[in-house]
Amino acid sequence: MLRTVSSHIFRSARVVGSHRVAIPRVVGPRIFARAVQLTSETYPNLQRTAFAKLTEEDIAHFKTILADSAVIQDTDMLLSYNEDQMRKYRGQSRLVLKPKTTAQVAQIVAHCNARALALVPQGGNTGLVGGSVPVFDEIVLSLASLNNIRAFDEVSGILTCDAGVVLENADNYLAERGYIFPLDLGAKGSCHVGGTVATNAGGLRLLRYGSLHGTVLGLEVVLPDGTVYNSLHALRKDNTGYDIKQLFIGSEGTLGVITGVSILCPARPKAKNIAFLGVPSYEAVLQTFAHARGELSEILSAFEFMDRRSQVLCGEFLKTDAHPLEDEHPFYVLIETSGSNKEHDDEKLEAFLESAMEEGLVDDGVLAQDETQLRNLWEWREGISEASQIYGGVYKYDVSLPLPELYGLVDAVNERLAEHGLIGETDEFPVKEAVGYGHVGDGNLHLNVAVRRYTKEVEKCLEPFVYEWIAEKKGSISAEHGLGFQKKNYIGYSKSELEILLMKQIKGQYDPKGIMNPYKYI
Ligand code: FAD
Ligand code: MLT
Ligand code: ZN
Repeated sequence: MLRTVSSHIFRSARVVGSHRVAIPRVVGPRIFARAVQLTSETYPNLQRTAFAKLTEEDIAHFKTILADSAVIQDTDMLLSYNEDQMRKYRGQSRLVLKPKTTAQVAQIVAHCNARALALVPQGGNTGLVGGSVPVFDEIVLSLASLNNIRAFDEVSGILTCDAGVVLENADNYLAERGYIFPLDLGAKGSCHVGGTVATNAGGLRLLRYGSLHGTVLGLEVVLPDGTVYNSLHALRKDNTGYDIKQLFIGSEGTLGVITGVSILCPARPKAKNIAFLGVPSYEAVLQTFAHARGELSEILSAFEFMDRRSQVLCGEFLKTDAHPLEDEHPFYVLIETSGSNKEHDDEKLEAFLESAMEEGLVDDGVLAQDETQLRNLWEWREGISEASQIYGGVYKYDVSLPLPELYGLVDAVNERLAEHGLIGETDEFPVKEAVGYGHVGDGNLHLNVAVRRYTKEVEKCLEPFVYEWIAEKKGSISAEHGLGFQKKNYIGYSKSELEILLMKQIKGQYDPKGIMNPYKYI
């Protein structure tokens, strides 16, 4: 019986891997004909807070702290720091500062605080809620040059690094030492370790390694008055008082600038498998997940799902119609196993696949047989993020919902867009389609509404409808991307009035002048 399943799976697997170019690892500005609209024009009712305006004296002061080349005022160079990844938000900053040390960050922030100049900390600028770019003329404080590994303990697996280290570089460094960064995501080639901590990113392996609230052991943070808070110790256990560092994990640059991170890294798995499966229904996705948890248990490291539409979009982005599975399926599942014994893992995975197919949960599937196939299969999942923008733009919703309700939101949104006459195949419709995919294992759906253009009509059709739908089902309006600019007015759908009050008190305590990443979060 095992042979039947294996040969079926391996037969399909031969088509994987040779048909196209890999998606770019580095997320970056691309050439588009249309300029990104200024956020202040998109939201004309938004008023600039009475922060100080940048003067020549400020610039001269910054040049006493940084080399001239780290003080960027050139209009062309400023563009990529002002525009976000989705080409949805654009600020008007006239200054980007690129410190190389924590001491320089502290001096810059202290000056901004004394002068009441507003600041936006920026990592890799891959954030998906408009949090990493200015709204008006805030100074961009880029952490890109603060990018050294500080220490690594090969016994405990504790890595200490600057905030501006690119996630993929951190992981490559760890790979050479037999360890793995406990977070992985599609933007790994661009996003920073500090940026992922600031957003409390979830990613593709949260199921296995847990949240950054658990793996981050210490932080170095420049507080809004320029004081340096340092808890960069390498202790796994420390029960002395409030765990202050937790406040900064997921604070999205509103409480301080993260300059250093100490994080617990697991041993790198020696054996890895990827199965890419065609599944007949959303119900079957859930049953396959339950089955995988039971059968694969400790070796299950990712369980991702994608709907059919997301795969069509991804094929257009990857410029291929050679999907890993020849026949169409309503849903697809990507399962990753990671362990220390390949034979043992193969056996477990094959037994799982065999029973899943026998029970009718899975209709077809492929197994990656080498590293190239493994990466190619992941592209059909990781590529959806960028694929969703190829028609012009994307409205993104990143939600936590009880699993049985998860996919209902995608259907509800497609129906609503159709009722309003906004979705269709031709250019007259602003919306191309709404696709669903995500981290089933974490109860996290990504709903991407791929649009040909951003319009108020589409935004009003989607919001607050989406947030109300989520609140009714007792979900969260942000599972992992954060609040940023996009969701700052909607936090009440997921947090109580008391919680919001407490958050405001914390913000007021740390940043009384409100200079850190204003117009965002709360
Ligand atoms: P930025 O985008 O530069 O900043 C994000 C926020 O953090 C901003 O509010 C900024 O002010 C703040 N910030 C950045 N650095 C610092 C710092 N040093 N100190 C204080 N504040 C700071 N997210 C997930 O959770 N899971 C995913 O699977 C995932 N996949 C993605 C895939 C793609 C292709 C893309 C484009 C994005 C993805 N994201 C995902 C979004 C995610 O939030 C970011 O990729 C990442 O966490 C942000 O890191 P960054 O360095 O780019 O930060
Ligand atoms: C993902 O899981 O792919 C990310 O969170 C990014 C996205 O949804 O765009
Ligand atoms: Zn995600």
